[in-house]
Amino acid sequence: MTKDDAITVEPLDAQAAHAAIPALAEILADAVDSGASVGFMQWNGQADYTAFWTGVAADVAAGRTILFAARQGADVLGTAQLQLVGKPNQPHRAEIAKVLVHSRARRRGIAQKLMQAAEIAARQAKRDLLVLDTDENGAARRLYGKLGWIEVGTIPRYALMPDGRDCGSTFFYKDLR
Ligand SMILES: CC(C)(COP(=O)(O)OP(=O)(O)OC[C@H]1O[C@@H](n2cnc3c(N)ncnc32)[C@H](O)[C@@H]1OP(=O)(O)O)[C@@H](O)C(=O)NCCC(=O)NCCS
Repeated sequence: MTKDDAITVEPLDAQAAHAAIPALAEILADAVDSGASVGFMQWNGQADYTAFWTGVAADVAAGRTILFAARQGADVLGTAQLQLVGKPNQPHRAEIAKVLVHSRARRRGIAQKLMQAAEIAARQAKRDLLVLDTDENGAARRLYGKLGWIEVGTIPRYALMPDGRDCGSTFFYKDLR
């Protein structure tokens, strides 16, 4: 990678998702190490992250999830997921999950690009109601507000921070109609 390479965001097919597992595991480890509440604890390790992304790759193969990677050259710097809700009464809804940008590449608009790509994919998949939740004190809360998501409220003690402290989760939605 050179710093002049453009950052691109693309959905990964099942094969590409599988090939990206080590890079995605590193990004997830970096997020947990930087103190983000993203489903894992300080004591989790590479095996847990690899298992997680292996499951995501299976969801991609099954058509349940659209997985995005932000790259600069061959370097994966960020990721996001659009999870297509499978319930028969919610064919119009999808959830955004695991929006992660490596700490060495933050504040360069990569998360914003990932969210734009997810919205375009949602429209193509005819999913016009999007939902997500995030750490009430995290940077992502400002990201989603900036991108026009509607904040619904915060559930206290919804999850734990990687060091075991309580973490409230703030829920957002975006109606694409
Ligand atoms: C949250 C995260 C994904 C943002 O990624 P990023 O690529 O740095 O974000 P962007 O550069 O696209 O930021 C877009 C906007 O979001 C807001 N934002 C992002 N990071 C911010 C921060 N640390 N502080 C304040 N605002 C922030 C700003 O409004 C920013 O626009 P600006 O730079 O013009 O002010 C990244 O910090 C991250 O991976 N954090 C750890 C994992 C995490 O918490 N993920 C969210 C799970 S729901």
